[in-house]
Order: sequence, then structure tokens, then C-alpha cells
Amino acid sequence: MTSAPDFSLPIPEAEDRLKSSALISWLTDHMRQAPLPFAEYMAAVLYHPQWGYYGSGQVQFGQGGDFVTAPERSPLFAAGLVYEWQQALASGCGTAVGEFGAGSGQLALDFLTECAARGCLPSQYVIIEISPALQARQQARLRAELPEALWQRLRWVSALEALSPAWPGGMLLANEVLDAMPVTRFRWVPGRADSACAVGVGLQGERFAWVDLGSSAELTAALQPYEGWWPPEDLPDAPIMAEINLALGEWLAALYRAVAAPKATRVYLLDYGASAQELYRPDRQDGSLRCHYRHRAHDDPFVYPGLQDITAWVDFSRTAALAAGAGWRVDGERSQASWLLGTDVPDRFTAMMAAAPDRRQAAALAQGFKELVMPTEMGERFRVLRLNRPAEVL
Ligand SMILES: C[S@@+](CC[C@H](N)C(=O)[O-])C[C@H]1O[C@@H](n2cnc3c(N)ncnc32)[C@H](O)[C@@H]1O
Repeated sequence: MTSAPDFSLPIPEAEDRLKSSALISWLTDHMRQAPLPFAEYMAAVLYHPQWGYYGSGQVQFGQGGDFVTAPERSPLFAAGLVYEWQQALASGCGTAVGEFGAGSGQLALDFLTECAARGCLPSQYVIIEISPALQARQQARLRAELPEALWQRLRWVSALEALSPAWPGGMLLANEVLDAMPVTRFRWVPGRADSACAVGVGLQGERFAWVDLGSSAELTAALQPYEGWWPPEDLPDAPIMAEINLALGEWLAALYRAVAAPKATRVYLLDYGASAQELYRPDRQDGSLRCHYRHRAHDDPFVYPGLQDITAWVDFSRTAALAAGAGWRVDGERSQASWLLGTDVPDRFTAMMAAAPDRRQAAALAQGFKELVMPTEMGERFRVLRLNRPAEVL
């Protein structure tokens, strides 16, 4: 048993319950030795190759699945990125496109199809996907749905280090990938780095439960930039929960090393998130961790291990600062709405509406566009951060 039953969530099928039970047994064995840091728990429930949500391919994307990402909502999302690709090519970037965590393969499909229509196909489209099961699913779908000439441009790697030395420069995309990376959970008095206490997952009888793991030099150092941000009168009476991705700096540094090339590379990190000032606000009592199961959002990561998604909002100001520290030139960050409305997507939308064969398809197109840009939908909560690594002078 993990969490007490939540009757508002749909009940998984018997086969899924068995799979989750196997993961619970495996986690329980580990927790009998010692509680797991939350980042290790999250890595296991999402990426375990046999039972993890992404690792085993349990995830279902789109309307019939657990959540709907921007590429699944509208082809106009890919169209906006193809516009960026054309700008990148015009500014002298290399000829390759890479996509982290390609999910159902929808973005790769729409991006390559749109490039073919606009005459700007990349020399290669590399998918960097850590889940072997998702790689297999993406390959089957793209093989079936793309014409041979486009399929030939695709290749898959399992780690970003495998991008080099063949990477010629170009453009890299990561949509909703940073939010799926394991985070450290901790309690703290906001702005007091030495008050931070990591929390992990241990056993309370048969159930998973939060366990204090104490402070660590790494966590305290990572929170140092926020020291004294909030005045004493704004601080809560008791420590509050928050999350931080302690592996992000190294990921950005590894990415920087991997794209050293004779031509420049632009990176687009697209995700939901906010600045550190917003994320660590003292009145945000329970952090930003969210779980998704069949379109129900809740905040209990112990429910249905391996069957539900777990995410945390991205701290965009910290991501930008860590990227700059790793050598990246930070080009800037904006909301998804202001980014998309500054591309040629509004014109494309108008043209597609005019060409829609019937009212039903026009309504679906309009709905997708609205969801991408409306502030109450994805328009403001989703942000776009652009990084740049200039050409290597050889
Ligand atoms: C929330 S899904 C997003 C899928 C897709 N990008 C979309 O927008 O529909 C997260 C994806 O990122 C992948 N992923 C997570 N961490 C990764 C990493 N470090 N490198 C590459 N892929 C990763 C997962 O396996 C999964 O395919």
C-alpha cells in the first residue's frame, strides 16, 4: 500500500495495478535499508526501465492519456518552432535539429512535415530520448507516418553526450522535459538557506511517507542565491515545502560541451514555470510538485507509483543563471503567448482557418490556437528560454 485511497481518481486496470505493485515491492525493499531521497524516488517511478511511467512506456500522451502537451494541442506549436528554425538558419546556425524527450513523436512529425512544406529541412533530426520504450514507440509511429525522405533524416540517441562529435550545430528543442527531471524536495523558511531540510520517502507501516533527511552542503549552497529575499514579516511560522533540481547545472554544462561545433547552436527550453521569486514565495506552502493521472491533477506522488506522471515547475531564472555559468549566452525568456504571437504563427493560423474544409475542423484549429496562447491556458504559465552557443573558432 502507498497512499490512502483517493476516491476522486479513476481506478487502474488489473494489469496496471500488478505493474505498480511490482514497483512498490522494489521500492519497499530499498526503503527497508534507508529512506530514498525524493529525487531517487522520482527517478525510479518515472524512469525505471521495467515499471517506470516513462521508462516502461506506460505513459499515454494526448486527449486519451494523462495530460496534453503543446504539440498534441495544435500543429501551430511546431509551426512556431519551424519559424525559429528558419531564423536560426538565416543567422548561420548549423544544419541539424535535435529534440529532447520526443514523447509521442508528434512534434517531430509536425516539424519535419512543416519544414518539407517550407523548403527548410534539417540535414538530420536527432531525438535524444532516455526511455528505450518511448524510443521504440516514436520509431514505429514516425516510420509509419513520415515519407521515406523525411524518415531518413531521423536518428535516436539515449544520452546527450552521444550528440557529439557528429553534431554540426543547429537547433535543440526541449518541450516539457525539464519539468520531468527528478527534483530534490525540501522544507525551509524561504530565503534562509541554512534552514533547508531535504525530505525523502520512507516507510510508515506499509505506506510510503515523507521522512526528514536533514541538511546537505549541496542543497544549502544551491539556495544561497535566495538568501534574505523576503522580509521577516512575510515569512511563514513553520518551514514550507519546495523543490529544486540539483542536477540541472551539470545537465546544462554537459549540453554545452556536447554542441561544440563549427556552427552555432540555439536551444529552446519550453516548459511551465516561473522565476525563483515566484516559485519560492512564502505563501506557496506546498511547492509546485504536481501529479497527473488520466487528466486529474493532484499533489500526492505516492499514488499509483509508475502509473502517473510527476512534475515540478521549472525555475526559469535559476535555469538562465546556471546556463550562463555553464558558458551559454542567454538570449532571453518570454511567455509562450508572446513568443508565438511574435512569429508568423498568427498569419499561418489565419491561412489555415481560411483553408479549413468545414466548420468542425475550423473550430478545432481555433481551439488549439487559443489553448496555446490564452493566458488562462498555456499562454503565460508556459515559458520559452533561448540559449545560444556560438560557433567554435577552430
Ligand atoms: C512530459 S514528456 C514530454 C514529451 C514531449 N516533449 C511533448 O511535449 O509532448 C517528457 C519526455 O522527456 C523525456 N525525458 C526526460 N528526461 C530526459 C532527459 N534527461 N533527456 C532526454 N529525454 C528526457 C521523457 O522520457 C519523455 O519523453
